[in-house]
Amino acid sequence: MRIYQYAKQIGLSPKHLIEICENAGIKGKTYVSGLKDDEISVIDKYIKKSRFTGKSLVCDGTETVGQIASKLGISAGDIIKQLSDIGITAKINDTIGVINIKKLCEVLGIPVEIKKTKASYIRGAAGEIGEEFVSRAPIVTVMGHVDHGKTTILDFIRRSNIAKAEFGQITQKIGAYKVHIKEGDIVFIDTPGHEIFTAMRARGAQLTDIVVLVVAADDGVKQQTIEAINHCKAANVPIIVAINKIDKPNANPDSVKKQLSGYGLVPEEWGGQTVFLNVSGITGQNIKELLEIILLMGEMMDLKANPERPAEGVVLEGYLHKQKGPIMHLLVQNGTLNIGDFFVCGASWGKVRAMFDENGARLEKAGPSTPVEILGANSVAVPGDKFMVVGSEADAKKYAEQALQRIKSSQEKVQKQITLEDIQNQIIQGSIKELNIILKTDSIGSQEAIKASIEKLTADSEKHEVVVHLIHWGLGAVNESDVLLASCSQAIIIGYNVGIDSSADKQAKEKGVEIRIYRLVYDLIEDIKNIIEGMKKPQETEIMIGQALVKQVFKAGKNQTVAGCLVVEGK
Ligand code: GTP
Ligand code: MG
Repeated sequence: MRIYQYAKQIGLSPKHLIEICENAGIKGKTYVSGLKDDEISVIDKYIKKSRFTGKSLVCDGTETVGQIASKLGISAGDIIKQLSDIGITAKINDTIGVINIKKLCEVLGIPVEIKKTKASYIRGAAGEIGEEFVSRAPIVTVMGHVDHGKTTILDFIRRSNIAKAEFGQITQKIGAYKVHIKEGDIVFIDTPGHEIFTAMRARGAQLTDIVVLVVAADDGVKQQTIEAINHCKAANVPIIVAINKIDKPNANPDSVKKQLSGYGLVPEEWGGQTVFLNVSGITGQNIKELLEIILLMGEMMDLKANPERPAEGVVLEGYLHKQKGPIMHLLVQNGTLNIGDFFVCGASWGKVRAMFDENGARLEKAGPSTPVEILGANSVAVPGDKFMVVGSEADAKKYAEQALQRIKSSQEKVQKQITLEDIQNQIIQGSIKELNIILKTDSIGSQEAIKASIEKLTADSEKHEVVVHLIHWGLGAVNESDVLLASCSQAIIIGYNVGIDSSADKQAKEKGVEIRIYRLVYDLIEDIKNIIEGMKKPQETEIMIGQALVKQVFKAGKNQTVAGCLVVEGK
């Protein structure tokens, strides 16, 4: 029986049950892991053995010993004694912190759930003290290689037919949809799989809570599958793997699992931590289970937002409509957006004139985790820009003007954005601890060799200040998609015996991405080693000491030439 199913049965949250498993010596379970009969009986015994049977603690870690005692319905003296048994001295009005609360519950043998006091509406963002938060729908981005069936899976979920209506059946923009099912709401973001849409995929990974990685069972792991994994790792987003097209006769899900294990995505049945599901976007096999797992994962992530505050979000897409003017696709992440609100996003500003959902239906307001289309901006917004509701038209104009100035000055500085020297300086100042590298080589052999050397350097680099991440690698010339990825992830591009596409070269100059081409592995590794060790390479500069004019050239034996010169300046 799966953890979440058993948790439901005994009236605990999956998170509680996993904690109980850990305490009862059943290690390494995740909420979809299966529980064997003997494990269930160990858990049952463990729960019964506790003299606090049936009790559980839900707290936020700010409670005093007295408050914890009253939540548990036992005396404060009892708790103080238990604490002192594990070496914690505390009085009735002391707070003991989350770690000690967990230790306490462990010795008491009761499950504990720590509620976050801070908002996690935008991953990593802190809320304001005193704000009231409510649960919000998880934001899920669907990623994967071109034609592996991302849009088809979403079609099945939405029962619409977007994939068939798409031009050339290729997704070319980020589409976002809110799906309502019995168990809850989920926001899905579809991304394009074609190689040229790197920047869109990078953005998708950044604004999402969970990524569903779609891999076709008849095609396996491909270039953009790997790229998507790298984006997720860079953005630190959990991945659910959907092995799609399982209905096809030549489907080989085991081979996909084997391939993905090589990228750190190991299925639970093989001892890993990643949820894998065999699905079909055509027959709908396991799609219900996929939704269920997304909702459970979202629940465990404790995603919150405050619908009472002014809206904040992120621009997914902006375009210009002949009659309607600038149109913006927006994901409201926190707060509520209303018709008539003044807003700013990057250098654009405006007043919400009209608002539509993904089906084109008019909306009056849009709460947290809602994708909307809005009219009323003064110019076309840039995807990825932050959207914010402000108090007045004057404020909106002021912030947009400030953003414009920032954009202008950063464009002036852009040439220096990601050069190696810059990174070295920042490392020396301690402001960078990670170096992202994109590697392009002429052959698989050289790729393997360089990857292994870089990995070894990283393994040895624990004692140094810097960690090297190889975020993407491939064969052939450095192309535009490499430059986009580098620009999105603040990486440098390292090429070994390869050229640079002229369009990529142009774009790299515009975006200030450094491309270093090497002919010798030794030089390449030396440079990376120097960065890791935080050493500044001596700068080489040419100083002229004299100039001469070649008057005549004489042959002097085989392969030797002598130039007759006239010194015109210096020595
Ligand atoms: P991009 O947006 O271009 O990256 O592609 P995508 O990943 O969204 O793929 P899409 O959904 O457009 O599907 C590509 C093709 O695969 C279409 O012809 C689908 O009908 C087919 N397809 C998708 N899912 C399945 C499936 O589960 N089984 C089978 N047999 N075919 C599928
Ligand atoms: Mg698609």
